[in-house]
Amino acid sequence: MSYPEFIKIVEVGPRDGLQNEAKIVPTEVKIALIEKLVHAGLSVVESGSFVSPKWVPQMASSAEVFKGINKQAGISYPMLVPNLKGLEAALEAGAQEIAIFAAASETFSQKNINCSIEESIQRFQQVVDVAHQQNIKIRGYLSCVMGCPYEGDIDPAKVLEVAQRLISDAGCYEISLGDTVGVGTPIQARKLIEQISQVIPIHQLAAHFHDTYGQALANLSAVVECGVSVIDSSVSGLGGCPYARGASGNVATEDVLYMLNGMGIETGVDLPRLIEAGEFISDFLGRMPASKVALALGNKIS
Ligand code: HMG
Ligand code: MG
Repeated sequence: MSYPEFIKIVEVGPRDGLQNEAKIVPTEVKIALIEKLVHAGLSVVESGSFVSPKWVPQMASSAEVFKGINKQAGISYPMLVPNLKGLEAALEAGAQEIAIFAAASETFSQKNINCSIEESIQRFQQVVDVAHQQNIKIRGYLSCVMGCPYEGDIDPAKVLEVAQRLISDAGCYEISLGDTVGVGTPIQARKLIEQISQVIPIHQLAAHFHDTYGQALANLSAVVECGVSVIDSSVSGLGGCPYARGASGNVATEDVLYMLNGMGIETGVDLPRLIEAGEFISDFLGRMPASKVALALGNKIS
């Protein structure tokens, strides 16, 4: 078993975490959260999305949020973009990295972005052509890699096919494999990574696991053992996808960090500061953190 020595944590709380919140979170609260996450040592903090405000009202303030962040050198603040209109908004705001998102399930693609997988790849091609001219880095998400809320099981061959296209057609530097509704289990997760990494180098794969069925940490442990060295997580376990009924938050960043610390894997992230960031947003939302580690170690328990 050979674990990576360093794992990059991609914090997705301000986007994936907040996008499903019904109560609109004010711009200044989002900015403060992002800055606290960076202060905790996270080097990649996904900070919002330029999607239709009719589809995801919570993200309507993303331009103001992005512009308001006191940006630190060496930190990436990627923004999710579904189409050319979204890219134009991202460029106008000054974004230097974007994330595009496709699915391994036809039905999920229709529900999430109102087009087929094929149409989405063609749509992304336009985005990518412009983004590359502007030297914008592009990350790719792939949803429903271990199951779909509408179609059930998803063939790993389909996951591989779309992942390859995100790399070859869209030029993504990294593919984030999303267990959107958290249905995957560890042996399945390991087999998926083993299959995909025969074709796509493992350093280009990220694990983006939601914790709906309580399997996310076990799944992460399994894929880290395969050599995956990029993990997406959400502070305080916030979140869920509005177009995946029953999707809970991503695995909590605090819980991931505690596990990686225990495995002796470096991340550059400070646990007490991260817990503080989680408590800040949980206080604002009026609920306890969904991270078990934050509950065990944070101030909220006393
Ligand atoms: P559509 O209705 O097919 O788009 O939506 P359209 O091109 O026909 O436009 C309809 C209206 O939306 C027009 O406005 C456009 O201007 C506007 P109207 O004329 O009606 O006033 N519009 C936009 N406005 C702002 N920004 C834009 C934009 N594009 C069109 N970029 C669309 C297609 C893709 C826009 C829509 O389906 C959408 O916004 N979907 C986003 C859904 C979403 O954000 N889902 C959550 C993120 S994905 C996720 O969470 C999964 C992930 O975490 C990985 C995992 O866990 O699996 C990444
Ligand atoms: Mg997600």
